[in-house]
Amino acid sequence: MSGLGPREASRSDAAPPVTANGLVMAFGGIKAVNGMSLTLRRGELLGLIGPNGAGKTTLFNVIAGALKPTAGTVCISGIDVSGHGPETRISHGLGRTFQIPKPFAQMTVLENVLTGAQNQAGERLFSNFLRPGLVAAQEKASIEKARALLDFVTLSALENEPARVLSGGQRKLLELARILMADPTVILLDEPAAGVNPALLEFIITRIVELNQQGKSILVIEHNMDMVTRLCSRVVVMAAGSLLTEGTPDEVTRNPAVIEAYLGDQP
Ligand SMILES: Nc1ncnc2c1ncn2[C@@H]1O[C@H](COP(=O)(O)OP(=O)(O)OP(=O)(O)O)[C@@H](O)[C@H]1O
Ligand SMILES: [Mg+2]
Repeated sequence: MSGLGPREASRSDAAPPVTANGLVMAFGGIKAVNGMSLTLRRGELLGLIGPNGAGKTTLFNVIAGALKPTAGTVCISGIDVSGHGPETRISHGLGRTFQIPKPFAQMTVLENVLTGAQNQAGERLFSNFLRPGLVAAQEKASIEKARALLDFVTLSALENEPARVLSGGQRKLLELARILMADPTVILLDEPAAGVNPALLEFIITRIVELNQQGKSILVIEHNMDMVTRLCSRVVVMAAGSLLTEGTPDEVTRNPAVIEAYLGDQP
């Protein structure tokens, strides 16, 4: 599948967790991403803002390997993964959540988290027959880890419920637990607090801060500027597929070009 070596063997700790260079993503005649470059620094909690349709989610899709860009490159921790798909990028430490989470509705909450586990021996053909002990031990460890992550996102009480019973905010938390199963060093969060109630918003903020304090580098798309201001010391602003400006939350919100880009978004 991947020609790249294991994450630990090949990663350069000095390199930025994400470097995106000259990315273009065209859908027919529309360039949803149009020459966008961005660097997420190690240990950083970087904000990505911009009006609706600016290309933020499309940029995430290109960085995560879900979309193959028309032009440009993506490096994860110094490794050029441009020619590789999402699985390789996950194996190099990248985790991403979706703007609209779509859990496996009929599977339980715990089973959904377990789908985030990487490199399970049981997934390989015949392992169940040849090395049943290894598979059983891995499954036990994975279940323990999934339970700890459900505890981290306060969904433990719901572990045996089907995911369809979860609220929108709980689905966002479930997704966070699922990507944490793969021990990402770099996390892309697409509007983690959109549509959640104020209490849950506060909880999500504390968890994002905690993950960052654990050493994870985080790029977060968010429209809630109060949240961005509390979380991020640096913010990148996209408009019409390109970089408009970057700076502190205070700098970018005072920038007339940013205000104009948002006003142009009004109906
Ligand atoms: N698969 C696709 N096919 C065609 N056009 C697309 C596709 N995905 C996105 N677009 C278009 O690309 C542009 C950027 O969309 P994108 O979802 O990346 O914006 P966004 O910045 O995430 O917006 P929002 O803040 O509303 O989530 C939009 O005009 C959108 O309609
Ligand atoms: Mg979006």
